[in-house]
Amino acid sequence: MVASTWTRRHIISLADFTIAEYDIVLQTAASFQEVLSRPTKKVPTLQGRVVANLFFEPSTRTRNSFELAAKRLSADTLTFAPGSSSLTKGETILDTALTYLAMGTDIMVIRHQHAGVPQAIAQEMERVGSQVSVLNAGDGQHEHPSQALLDLFTLCCVLDPDQPRASLMQGKKVAIVGDILHSRVARSNLWSLITCGAEVHLAAPPTLLPEFFRSWGAPLEEAGARSPLHLHWSLEPALADADFVMTLRLQKERMTQYLFPTLREYHRSFGITHDRLKHCKSTVKVLHPGPVNRGIEISSELMDDPRLSLISQQVSSGVAVRMALLYLIGSGKVGDGKS
Ligand code: NCD
Repeated sequence: MVASTWTRRHIISLADFTIAEYDIVLQTAASFQEVLSRPTKKVPTLQGRVVANLFFEPSTRTRNSFELAAKRLSADTLTFAPGSSSLTKGETILDTALTYLAMGTDIMVIRHQHAGVPQAIAQEMERVGSQVSVLNAGDGQHEHPSQALLDLFTLCCVLDPDQPRASLMQGKKVAIVGDILHSRVARSNLWSLITCGAEVHLAAPPTLLPEFFRSWGAPLEEAGARSPLHLHWSLEPALADADFVMTLRLQKERMTQYLFPTLREYHRSFGITHDRLKHCKSTVKVLHPGPVNRGIEISSELMDDPRLSLISQQVSSGVAVRMALLYLIGSGKVGDGKS
């Protein structure tokens, strides 16, 4: 394992992640994937540590994946259910976090419908002088770093299963299609894919893909390089010769107005199907972070086609990647008498 070169205490955003950090995550996840292929899939790495999953918003994949990852590392886990918690009695989020701190929590994995909550809790943990690490499991429309890291791991494993590494993404064309406006997954993926050298093509109706998304490519343009980021308000140019297509869910719960005519019309213009993939490279693979609206952003047949769909690999990679993240931020605390 390569934790000795890891210096980050919290994982809130990928905006300032370096290629070296992506490589550490990929390498560490690969070694945990090997652990997960053994008959006994558990290691004692985080024995005696407490990982609290504080999910203030619904989740199936991310919450269970973090929970399984923590258990595979032998940590003790606490799971917070907002509906049956003291939040309903008026307790603030910061007081809830301080309660988990008082119980000896070492790592807080936080999902919240408002952007900035994981950051606020991380600051509070530092203010009170604790050693707690905070991992953002999705905050509003801001970021979802562990999803983008598991997406990167899944892509790199397709390109080289034996040695997944960031440089494999250099020059690869990745199309991200769907509700980009509301997507924290798209935002985190933009940081990771651009930093690792991919060419990213975003495609959506104009109401779901505003111009401000160009700003992700701006730092490279300012440095004199061609922007690796392209915006399209139709599907074909984004799919032409693409190596990978990442589809995104229409996030109806975040839509405050009608942003496209009908779901049928949306599927006709932007839904990914076998037929549409003819524009891509013959080796193309399709991703989706889930949950999926079957037959809307992606056809049911394509979703279930194991030759083309990486959706179940994304879910299984998620456990190895989240083990890597918990290990990297959790094992930095050696020397505190607990390791
Ligand atoms: C994503 C999320 O919650 O942002 N899902 C996930 O974590 N697997 C995407 C989504 O909800 O559409």
